[in-house]
Amino acid sequence: MHSEDPFDLPAMDEALAGTPFAEKLRFLPTIDSTNTLTMREAEAGAPEGLVCFADEQTAGRGRGAHSWQSPPGSGLYASVLLRPRVAPADVLWLSLAAGLAVREAIREVASLEADLRWPNDLLLGPKKFCGILTELSAEVTRVRHLVVGIGINVHQERFPEELARQATSLYIETGKHWPRQELLVALLKSLYRETSALESANLGQATQSILSRLERSSTWIRGKRVYVEGIEGCEGVTEGLDSRGFLLIRTADGLRTVYSGGVREEKSNSNR
Ligand code: BTN
Repeated sequence: MHSEDPFDLPAMDEALAGTPFAEKLRFLPTIDSTNTLTMREAEAGAPEGLVCFADEQTAGRGRGAHSWQSPPGSGLYASVLLRPRVAPADVLWLSLAAGLAVREAIREVASLEADLRWPNDLLLGPKKFCGILTELSAEVTRVRHLVVGIGINVHQERFPEELARQATSLYIETGKHWPRQELLVALLKSLYRETSALESANLGQATQSILSRLERSSTWIRGKRVYVEGIEGCEGVTEGLDSRGFLLIRTADGLRTVYSGGVREEKSNSNR
C-alpha cells in the first residue's frame, strides 16, 4: 500500500471548472460501494455530475457477480452520476465511451497505451488494471439515470494469489506511484468530452468515432480467439462490433452476438 496520496477537493473543483463535475465531488474515506451510494443518491434526486469516490470500499462490486477488491490507499474507486439525453437502446455507447475515456486519461497521465477488452475492461499486456460497472435506471423509452463506476488499480505492489495471474496495477507496470487525483481529473474531463459528443445532434457521427477508436485501441475486437463466461457461454473468433456496439463472435455454429458476460482469451491447453 502507498499511504500518501491525498485528494485536494478545491484544486479538483478548479481543474474541473466548466464540466458538470465541478463542485459536485464527494469524497468518502471508506464506504461499502461508491456505485451503491451513487445509485441511492440518484434515486433521491441528486444532480447530474455527482462524483462519489472513496479511499476504500468494503464491498466493491464488479460486473456480473464479481466483487472488486478495494483496499485503502491503493486504487481509484469512483462513481459518476449521469442523466444523459439518449435513448435506453443507446446506453451501451456510453459504457463503451467510458472505457475510451479512461484509456485516454491513462495515456495523458502515465503515457501508457492500454488495451480495451469489450465492453470496457482496460488491460496492460494480458492483465487487467481497470474495470467499469455501468448501472442504469430506465423506462423503456427514457433513461432516468446512469452510474458509471470506475475502479483503477493504482498503487498495488502485489495481488493476492487468486488474482495475481490476471490483475495488475499502474505501479506494477511502471514502477511509479501515479497520483489518483490527477487520474480522476483527467478521466472526468475525458468522460465529459465523450458524453457531450454522444448527446450532440449527431449521434451517428459520435458512434462511428467510438467504433473506429475501439478498432484501433483494442486487440480483442477482431481476430482474437475467445470464450464468453456466463449464460451466453460460447467460443470462437471475434469479428468486430455490430452497429449497436455489441461484440460479434464467429463460432462453429455461425456468427453470435454477445450481449453480456465476460470475454476471455481462449488459449489451447490453458487453465481458465
Ligand atoms: C468489473 O470489471 O467487474 C467492474 C469493476 C468496477 C469497480 C468500480 S470501483 C468504483 C465503483 N464502485 C463499485 O462498487 N464498483 C465500481
